Amino acid sequence: MLKKKIEKKKFIKKPKVEKAKPRVDATPNASGKKAYTLLRGMHDILPKDEKYWKAFYHTAENLAEHFQFGRIETPLLEEASLFVRSIGKGTDVVDKEMYVFEDRDGTKVALRPEGTASAVRAYIMHGMWNMVQPVKLWYFGSMFRHEKPQAGRFREHTQMGFETIGDPDPVQDAELILLAFNFYKDMGLPVEVHINSLGMPEERQKYKVALVEYYRSKRSYLCDDCKFRLNKNPMRLLDCKQERCQPIKEEAPQIISWLEEESKNHFTKVLEYLDELGVPYILKPNLVRGLDYYTRTVFEVYPVVGENENVEPGSQSALGGGGRYDLLVEEMGGKPTAAAGFSAGIERAVSALKQYYDAKQIKFPSQPLDAFMAQLGDQARRRALKTINDLRASGLKIAYNFSKNSLKGQLETANSLQVPYALILGQKEVQDGTVIIRDMESGVQEIVDQKKVEHLLKKKLIRFDEDKKKM
Ligand code: HAM
Repeated sequence: MLKKKIEKKKFIKKPKVEKAKPRVDATPNASGKKAYTLLRGMHDILPKDEKYWKAFYHTAENLAEHFQFGRIETPLLEEASLFVRSIGKGTDVVDKEMYVFEDRDGTKVALRPEGTASAVRAYIMHGMWNMVQPVKLWYFGSMFRHEKPQAGRFREHTQMGFETIGDPDPVQDAELILLAFNFYKDMGLPVEVHINSLGMPEERQKYKVALVEYYRSKRSYLCDDCKFRLNKNPMRLLDCKQERCQPIKEEAPQIISWLEEESKNHFTKVLEYLDELGVPYILKPNLVRGLDYYTRTVFEVYPVVGENENVEPGSQSALGGGGRYDLLVEEMGGKPTAAAGFSAGIERAVSALKQYYDAKQIKFPSQPLDAFMAQLGDQARRRALKTINDLRASGLKIAYNFSKNSLKGQLETANSLQVPYALILGQKEVQDGTVIIRDMESGVQEIVDQKKVEHLLKKKLIRFDEDKKKM
């Protein structure tokens, strides 16, 4: 009886169970133990990609420092209603994609699908309206959306985001678009900004009536998704990617004609700032975004694809997006506070960057290593580890491979790592208190006192850098 009552109280609709497909590589090994693979839509980030991730993180950190955004970290898990109220019922993120479950204490919780709602929650909860406005926050972390996996679309992805809370001025929109543009430009990736204004809810409401009227007259030509959107979320009609709906979309009424003076002025000022800053943009009257909280400016960033570049399927999705959300803070229980923000998907940024470098046949720079330590024999290995640690403490980056015993093998590794110098320690050098410094390009070797190796190596590296600059 009690059990039945508890079950009745459950308010979470049972999600449609997706039948787990057998993982092709989950074959048992010789001992009959199955090897694990990833859940659908999840991915590992491997060491081979570390340089790209690090570079994007450093670019974000550098922009945050220059434009004075403070780092905020919010939990991965929040009350589910935080996202329902902010992102909105009727959006794909809330209706189809959120990872929602009941916590052990019965609270309905969700893995965060995005960062804006949490930033706003934190702004209100920590009384940040008492601080100098606007409050500028940035974050970098995982987001979860149960989407249909495809190229550039994962169920766990990483976002870098900037939020400016507490100022309605168009200069804030422009600053965020500039940041978004710089984020890719500083990495050498050409991008373009697509921009639109969605006006305020009253303007949008009037526009929606005209939009629905127009689409109703074309109903029989629409795809099934659009027929559904027509009743549920007409703004999303403009987001349809189905070929049959494109001609209808192109002829649809444009929101810009429904904007009143204030919204028009705001939009014009944002564009004037962008002109002044030299940020290239394309006006996109059909740009609506997939989250309900936006007011006025919305924008997305896309990679510029050269004529001869191959485009991977899915890579034409937005690298990042954002906009103004002047009503969200109040909607979430705070005082009326204007705000705007931008987020970039890092997996998509890394993939676009790789594609760009491949197309241009440029090598993405790795973190340079200063030298390789080769050792021969037990005693030498012991001394080598100590020397590597001493040199590390003095700021030098030394590569090594203790699993290789032959000098030839170790020097081959040094070559493949493109280090300018190898340090060689054998039995004799350990006894003599010396190290051999080998110039990897010329093969010239010099025997030096172990105590002087740090000083001499640094001197050689300075000369090496100067010679490289002259080339
Ligand atoms: P969003 O457009 O939903 O906006 O997501 C931002 C970016 O995250 C996308 O442009 C894309 O690069 C990446 N992204 C989204 N979903 C996935 C996925 N399933 N797999 C891989 N990457 C993905 C927001 O989330 C807003 N919070 C942006 C914002 C900040 N608006 C104002 N402030």
